[in-house]
Amino acid sequence: MKATSIVVLTGAGISAESGVATFRDGDGLWASHRIEDVATPEGFARAPELVHTFYNGRRRELADVAPNAAHLALAKLEQEFKGDFLLVTQNIDDLHERAGSQKLVHMHGELAKALCANCGNRIACASDLSTDDVCSVCSTPGHLRPDVVWFGEFPYKMNQIENALERCDLFISIGTSGNVYPAAGFVQQARYAGARSVELNLEPSEGVDYFDESYHGPATLVVPAFVEKILATL
Ligand code: NAD
Ligand code: APR
Repeated sequence: MKATSIVVLTGAGISAESGVATFRDGDGLWASHRIEDVATPEGFARAPELVHTFYNGRRRELADVAPNAAHLALAKLEQEFKGDFLLVTQNIDDLHERAGSQKLVHMHGELAKALCANCGNRIACASDLSTDDVCSVCSTPGHLRPDVVWFGEFPYKMNQIENALERCDLFISIGTSGNVYPAAGFVQQARYAGARSVELNLEPSEGVDYFDESYHGPATLVVPAFVEKILATL
């Protein structure tokens, strides 16, 4: 069936072959860090410097990694597909942007931005953050945090995402374990809208049974192959 409206969801797995650590694989971030210490507002209030160290390290890594064939394939799909297209990422890296994706929302925020927890000011952030940093708007020190959505907080752009899911006729989920809501529930919302649902992942995710089709293998192989199949129907 020829798609007229596509929503793509990506998770940490799409960046794995670029050298960016995932969360729940054997060597994932949550194997070496406690979520409650580095990915919750309570953790930031308790020990902000520990949180800054965690995200400063991940931000510095971005200088050493590059988009892979899966990121590039999604940018090509966006460019050549003439219908509605939205790429929703749970990732906070900038690899989709660097691959050329533009119709993109970061539902968990971005490492490349900082947010003032006191006044809501948002700024570009390319270097380390610390509790000594002072917000340029409210001039208070110690409130600048990574612009990342933590556990217990509400993700960004949910209205835009849900509107796209209600209209889509093709939903593609890539490189996510299906552990964290609301992203893990997007496949059911897309199916309710009558969309064809496809999982592209290294291995079956928690939600694999919700998908009409699933293709398992490294993203740099399965994503370009699936994108070529879609482009051939246009
Ligand atoms: P959740 O309760 O659905 O958490 C799902 C999984 O995350 C759990 O199965 C567990 O593996 C892990 N988890 C969550 N809280 C944990 C904790 N305190 N200690 C250990 N493991 C924990 O996630 P949520 O709290 O409902 O998420 C709420 C919002 O936060 C959602 O909008 C989600 O998109 C967002 N979020 C952001 C990040 C991030 O790092 N940017 C991480 C997770 C969730
Ligand atoms: N190609 C395709 N998929 C891969 C690859 C690869 N090379 N490597 C790993 N994967 C898959 C894994 O099989 C797993 O299903 O990517 C998924 C990564 O899952 P997680 O580590 O749980 O990452 P993600 O699903 O993005 O986590 C969701 O949880 O902790 C929060 O903020 C964090 O946004 C993240 C959210």
